[in-house]
Amino acid sequence: YVIGVDLGTSAVKVLVVAKGGTVVSSVSKSYPLYHDKPGYSEQDPDDWVRATVEALEEVSANVNPNEIKGISFSGQMHGLVLLDDAHKPLRRAILWNDTRTTEQCRFIEDVASDIIRTSIKNPVLEGFTLPKLLWVKEHEPEIFEQAATFVLPKDYVRLALTGELHMEFSDAAGTLLLDVEKREWSHAVANAVGLPLSLCPPLIDSHEVVGSLKADLVAKTGMASAKVVAGGADNACGAIGTGILKEGTLLSSIGTSGVVLAFEQSATKSFSGTVHYFAHAAPDAHYTMGVTLAAGHSLTWLKETAAKETSFDNLVSLAEQSPIGAKGLLFTPYLSGERSPHADSAIRGSFIGLHASHEIGDLTRAVMEGITFSLNESVVAFREEGIQIDRVIATGGGAKSDAWMQMQADIYQAEVVQLTNEQGPGIGAAMLAAYGVGLYNSLEKIADTWTEVKRVYKPIPSQVEAYADLFKLYQRVYETTKQLSY
Ligand code: XUL
Repeated sequence: YVIGVDLGTSAVKVLVVAKGGTVVSSVSKSYPLYHDKPGYSEQDPDDWVRATVEALEEVSANVNPNEIKGISFSGQMHGLVLLDDAHKPLRRAILWNDTRTTEQCRFIEDVASDIIRTSIKNPVLEGFTLPKLLWVKEHEPEIFEQAATFVLPKDYVRLALTGELHMEFSDAAGTLLLDVEKREWSHAVANAVGLPLSLCPPLIDSHEVVGSLKADLVAKTGMASAKVVAGGADNACGAIGTGILKEGTLLSSIGTSGVVLAFEQSATKSFSGTVHYFAHAAPDAHYTMGVTLAAGHSLTWLKETAAKETSFDNLVSLAEQSPIGAKGLLFTPYLSGERSPHADSAIRGSFIGLHASHEIGDLTRAVMEGITFSLNESVVAFREEGIQIDRVIATGGGAKSDAWMQMQADIYQAEVVQLTNEQGPGIGAAMLAAYGVGLYNSLEKIADTWTEVKRVYKPIPSQVEAYADLFKLYQRVYETTKQLSY
């Protein structure tokens, strides 16, 4: 067996996977999120450790723990865990969805925008780690003075479980401090913003073995033969878990937020400023990524606001009865601003074209189309950068509905694949564990063995055309609604 630990924002999910890819045990444990002030989002790093250890103890009772050969991690990205010289957290972690750092982002842009553009290859966003480091330096100097290093959420859990301090490349790429092409910490960025590079921890590959569980944890769990493998960022692990391991493949994940992610072997393409460019957790590989912040969240909002009594399944089946274009209704999903391609936290969403004859099914259809159009803006940006997309693997809530699968095929203008028993990023972490400890000789081999295609949706030419016309209109909404604010 191997174990994949997925450290999410609301819970940790631990999967025990047998060699052929069957999940034999799965335990989830939640922990609190703290929003002390508007825009703040924090967690206690030791809550993550406690929850992970409890989940490991629980799963160890369901299998022979001595047969667990490897443990690896997938984690929420970008969160700052600031550590003292004994590797103890100096304050709560500041998470990826915390937006207090607008001023620090402006400062970084002022002093380092050229270096960021050429070597970091990512937009400067409030959620990323570097602006958080600068925020603590400025607002909590007495804490910052004691800082010896920093890590990202799942790196902290791995450190607590093994005693080994590392950061792996796929998560390091989300700090704004990693030169993504050279795969090393960027002296140039650190110098420009006035941070000592000595704060950055040692870097390792995602499939590298870092050590084993500490003795007290072996005693608690019985996992005496388990080697601990570095792991990857949740999006990188989501991609590995669905087999996004060669050029031409795209992941479209529609959960609370939505992600489209395209595999890239090298990191040599020039950066347009609209999408992300991250190191993959697969050896020597990369990916570009676009994010729609309120994807499934837009649908939940509609249900909570206008159709509380209806089930999601019922809402989606009402949407299926509405025609393409939802009888002239267009929705933009900017309920919490937008990440890609506009990077604009002030933009607001819209329904345009409302008519008294519109019903909840039409509104739902417009929301589903708007979410998919938003993701398609990133897909269009990928294609403009020369990325070829032959095949899309769909995951999350968006992959559970036939109507939404067909909509994705028609809007992305590519074949869209639904998988059997999709398990999220935890399975990607388990694949890294299996590869890292040598149970297989490549990640491709594991993905081929562990994943199974359930159904392929092909674009239907007349529908492709209808959506392409609507998409042109959709793209004009952003500029024309920029003045609306609240
Ligand atoms: C990626 C991002 C989120 C977090 C959530 O850039 O901010 O997907 O990784 O876990």
